[in-house]
Amino acid sequence: MEKYPGKRNIAVFISGRGSNLKSLIKHSKGKKALFKVLVVISNNHDAEGLKYASKWKIKNYGIKCKNKLSFENKSLKLLKKYNVDLLCLAGFMKIISGNFIKKFSKPILNIHPSLLPKYKGLNTHERAIKNEDKFAGATIHKVTEKLDSGKVILQKKVRILKSDNVRSLRKKVLKVEHKIYAKAINKFLTNL
Ligand code: GRF
Repeated sequence: MEKYPGKRNIAVFISGRGSNLKSLIKHSKGKKALFKVLVVISNNHDAEGLKYASKWKIKNYGIKCKNKLSFENKSLKLLKKYNVDLLCLAGFMKIISGNFIKKFSKPILNIHPSLLPKYKGLNTHERAIKNEDKFAGATIHKVTEKLDSGKVILQKKVRILKSDNVRSLRKKVLKVEHKIYAKAINKFLTNL
């Protein structure tokens, strides 16, 4: 497999639009990047983000599968083949099993649209607005068996204004996500 000197190979799992994937690919082309996106895998063969990976000639796979177990087994085979150093979940909407984490045996990172440990799971922006929080944000954390609970690598806040609604907050947080994921990966790889 092609190795880029000085850069570690990462795999990215996506489920849909792939705007975080885009920001990672963009960053990986720069001098500051410590990583290269070697392969992109999706549990949804129609995922928009796969097209972006193709555009950059990055190997990508939309895995059609009956259930989570078959997705995990197929993707584990691919991850073994590509021998990546790190797996990054970016808008990947399935919960990875403990068995997968054990079998993969390399670190896995995830991006979550809240200031963890607040608002694990879905509908983070709805909950932040409903609770009249002053801040929202995004977190990059290690993936463990417990949902959205692994060690925090990087986190960034945004202020919630009185005029914000779920839509505007989602947009603001996504902008932050695009800024911090690559930074967090670089930070993590430096200490790996
Ligand atoms: C992001 O907000 C991510 O944090 C969340 O789902 C969204 C996916 O966006 N889990 P994209 O597919 O990266 O554009």
